[in-house]
Amino acid sequence: MNKNVLVIGGCGYIGSIVSKLISEKDYQVSLLDDFSTGSRQVASQLAFPLYEGDYGDEQVLADIFSQRKYDAVLLFAASTSVTESLQNPEQYYHNNFFKVYPLLKMMKKFSVNQIIFSSTAAVYGDVEHLPVSELSPLRPKSAYGRSKMMSELLIEDLASQWGMKWVILRYFNVAGASVDQQLGQRNTQANHLMKVCAQAALQQRPKVEVFGTDYQTSDGSGVRDFIHVHDLAQAHILSLDYLNKGGGSDTFNVGYGQGVTVLETIKAFQKVSGVDFQVEYGDRRAGDIGCIYADCQKIKKIGWSAQYNDLEFMAKSTYLWEKKVCKTPQ
Ligand SMILES: NC(=O)c1ccc[n+]([C@@H]2O[C@H](COP(=O)([O-])OP(=O)(O)OC[C@H]3O[C@@H](n4cnc5c(N)ncnc54)[C@H](O)[C@@H]3O)[C@@H](O)[C@H]2O)c1
Repeated sequence: MNKNVLVIGGCGYIGSIVSKLISEKDYQVSLLDDFSTGSRQVASQLAFPLYEGDYGDEQVLADIFSQRKYDAVLLFAASTSVTESLQNPEQYYHNNFFKVYPLLKMMKKFSVNQIIFSSTAAVYGDVEHLPVSELSPLRPKSAYGRSKMMSELLIEDLASQWGMKWVILRYFNVAGASVDQQLGQRNTQANHLMKVCAQAALQQRPKVEVFGTDYQTSDGSGVRDFIHVHDLAQAHILSLDYLNKGGGSDTFNVGYGQGVTVLETIKAFQKVSGVDFQVEYGDRRAGDIGCIYADCQKIKKIGWSAQYNDLEFMAKSTYLWEKKVCKTPQ
């Protein structure tokens, strides 16, 4: 029997692609979004039942949950920039942490018993041992990372106490567009490295800045672990299946476990785009983690495996999407 899932933040980058892919499995999707960074074009493209509003608003949630019985919530909605979170921590605690409480409360009231939460590698901060496992201490360096860590704790404590099941997915650096190039990152303000490289290759920005050249890495730039958005979407499908088969609440890293430097990423991007865009070298940026990549063994136990683990494939996927969007801006 099909399960009803509410995807909160489903008109954004990752939420839209996950919504599309889970709808092709045994899940009936409804979307809730406030369109703060999400796209109305995506909402009409997906054509799932859509609720417009704030996920921290109990009345909005009560209206949604009283219209049909939901089996699970996927929570993507958040404010997502590390740098912005240092300038405006209040927004980050407010949107990413405080609103999780009313959501859990309303889920309890309407017997919605499963939640999949989008967390981030930013909860780890600077780590002592690489690859970083789920058991590593959490020492986030930004209000973004801290707000996510606090939400993780809230979900673990309250959802468990209230008899709900949860899966927390700690995403590493998400890249690429859907493989059919129909959905991708539409937010022009997003400042993820691959997005920025694509914009530079397409002359949408003058250069790419490298923040820090004195890290203890092969070329001095930071190290990241990119994961293609399709493989991340697969992790959501498997997490739902896992809970539906009676699996216990758990936390999983979602990355490929391969560190690539910022400079290697830029070079891969220049190669696939054929554009030798300008690169500027600057100081380390506050809140950034120097070097991080995932120990991704644990999630393999729920059947996950990497399909698109190729830096140039991810760069090309990001580049082709950006090219398409900048030709037909919406
Ligand atoms: N993109 C990455 O590399 C990455 C890495 C780690 C974790 N994450 C996490 O993944 C999730 C999705 O990220 P994304 O890159 O798709 O971001 P996004 O900005 O594209 O999507 C967020 C969506 O949530 C909506 N939203 C925000 N606040 C809301 C609110 N209060 N009520 C209702 N809707 C709201 C936005 O309008 C948008 O549609 C976030 O939780 C983010 O922290 C992303």
